[in-house]
Amino acid sequence: MKRIGVLTSGGDAPGMNAAVRAVVRKAIYHNMEVFGIYRGYAGLIDGDIKKLEVGSVGDIIHRGGTMLYSARCEEFKTLEGQLKGIENLKKHGIEALVVIGGDGSYQGAKKLTEHGFPCIGVPGTIDNDIPGTDFTIGFDTALNTVIDAIDKIRDTATSHERTYVIEVMGRHAGDIALWAGLAGGAETILIPEAEDEMDEVIARLKRGSDRGKKHSIIIVAEGVGSGVDFGKKIQEETKFETRVSVLGHIQRGGSPTAHDRVLASRLGARAVELLLDGKGGRCVGIQSNELVDHDIIEALSRTHTIDRKMYDLSKELSI
Ligand code: F6P
Repeated sequence: MKRIGVLTSGGDAPGMNAAVRAVVRKAIYHNMEVFGIYRGYAGLIDGDIKKLEVGSVGDIIHRGGTMLYSARCEEFKTLEGQLKGIENLKKHGIEALVVIGGDGSYQGAKKLTEHGFPCIGVPGTIDNDIPGTDFTIGFDTALNTVIDAIDKIRDTATSHERTYVIEVMGRHAGDIALWAGLAGGAETILIPEAEDEMDEVIARLKRGSDRGKKHSIIIVAEGVGSGVDFGKKIQEETKFETRVSVLGHIQRGGSPTAHDRVLASRLGARAVELLLDGKGGRCVGIQSNELVDHDIIEALSRTHTIDRKMYDLSKELSI
């Protein structure tokens, strides 16, 4: 394989740049040419494709976002869009593609694979919800951003003796909420993968108050519902002074942590190794601290699950 492409797609995640850098440098080191596809699958359809050199990826390892830009692209879900994309790849002589992104990006890579175009998926999303890997690029940075916010909000919660509801990202996945809730000492963590009864949440808050607890932190993953609605309900039912903070897109930005930079570098390089071995239709990941790769179609047939033991632990520690 002599010429490959790389794109980032879906929600941006800190560390995507480090992954792009690893793909470009590893490929050039092994005498391959690399083309960047800008704006994800949208740029693939539009032919927004440029050659990348060693220097093109200089000074980006520490930057959040993605130098290749990103997009969510409805057109690529159609057969016509996919064929247009493949045509553009062939026009540039690109023989394989590295796709860095989350679930939607993997679905696109799966389609290209089904059309016979070799692709490697690299998991890049703050949600940590990609099958075939213990961690996705960007999760650790987002988690640390959330922890920083929780710690700050806790100061005010303590000073004013208030209850705080903090809504974090995760439409379908509760990993950010669960890990941040555990690391931030939250009293209650609400995630889409578990059904918590509102009555039980209220009862816990009241039990805490009866024991002399003067403030509480509740973490809600956005997939469970609106933090604002939870806040209103809690205040109504408990009469505790309650405030709500929706962290939003601050969770997606910022300089990647060392963990994310290293993970991104390892996974990006591994994607290129697979292509050097003539393998396509795979996705890379890290499991038990070992780099792994799986058939992308098979991986996508599985769903990401949360660590149930960790969820139970969070309950035990916040009695
Ligand atoms: O997939 C990453 C993610 O940040 C989700 O947690 C969130 O639900 C979604 O993207 C938000 O997407 P957008 O930036 O398109 O609003």
